[in-house]
Amino acid sequence: MVSFEELGLSNTKEMFEVALERKFAIPGYNASNLEQLQGIIIGCGDSNSPVIIQITQTSLKYANKTMIRYMGEGCVKMSKDLGYDIPIALHLDHGSSFESCKACIDIGFSSVMFDGSHLEYQKNVMITKRVANYAHQRNVNVEAELGIIGREDKGKEVEIQQYTDPEQVEDFVNRTGCDSLAIAIGTSHGAYKFKVERAEDIPELRFDILQEIRKRLGKFPIVLHGASSVPKKYVDIVNNYGGSLKKSFGVPETQLRKATQHGVCKINVATDSRILFTAMIRKYFKEHVDHFDPRLYLGTARQELIEMIIRKNKEVLGSSGQAKYIS
Ligand code: 13P
Ligand code: ZN
Repeated sequence: MVSFEELGLSNTKEMFEVALERKFAIPGYNASNLEQLQGIIIGCGDSNSPVIIQITQTSLKYANKTMIRYMGEGCVKMSKDLGYDIPIALHLDHGSSFESCKACIDIGFSSVMFDGSHLEYQKNVMITKRVANYAHQRNVNVEAELGIIGREDKGKEVEIQQYTDPEQVEDFVNRTGCDSLAIAIGTSHGAYKFKVERAEDIPELRFDILQEIRKRLGKFPIVLHGASSVPKKYVDIVNNYGGSLKKSFGVPETQLRKATQHGVCKINVATDSRILFTAMIRKYFKEHVDHFDPRLYLGTARQELIEMIIRKNKEVLGSSGQAKYIS
């Protein structure tokens, strides 16, 4: 059992307070390997941005729980070694049970999400509350989800989207004691977010629902999942170098910026990093057929990720330079 404070991590409380006040979003960047973690630390360190490193249950299984605990600590130490002074939170993304949230808290995560969005309302309330009770005794923050953020994979709806009902949010937050709320306003997970032929046809997110929720919750932290932009640049590289990512569209950056002005203080990005890595590695393999040192192709992808993060923090989330406002 180790607490996040011992590992030098931060929880998300002050991050969200400052982000809401200053109208920007804290990046929630997902990682599942060493190079993505390094890219996130360097990208956010170079842009002086607070950061939430997100690990899913499948990534925990992939990388090993104990390994992740030390990698989380390693992120903090690496950040200090490089002379950065940024708050870093380690967050369980889409935890599916009380037990998985507890296991992460017990190995030093500073924030967990319990995702009960697929459950019946009362059950979602009950388990979220149980997670919040356990987490709060250890100063850990809890993100919950209401409504369903969908996921489509190659034309098939794996999870069916359901907009958050603004009428439920106050009751849910009051009864669960959660610290932030993920809402469904039209974003979805993965590379296939919109059923359109052209980027120009991407519909607006439901800002009316966001505003209604904001009206009811006041200055309460709202989280936007499924917020990758799926940059055409990387989709094209994948497709030009032997891959097939047809009709992949993400959330336009203008809409993400707008969301930060309306109470969204955390924006989750996983798919962009995955596509970027795939693009850079495909290209590298094609251009260097005789290379076989993983550091070469993974290093190229890592450098590209750093640049993407610096740009995103500055131009989309507005989190660049904000670390100094958080103690
Ligand atoms: P994307 O698939 O849009 O990157 O969503 C990430 C996310 O919501 C992680 O929880
Ligand atoms: Zn998500």
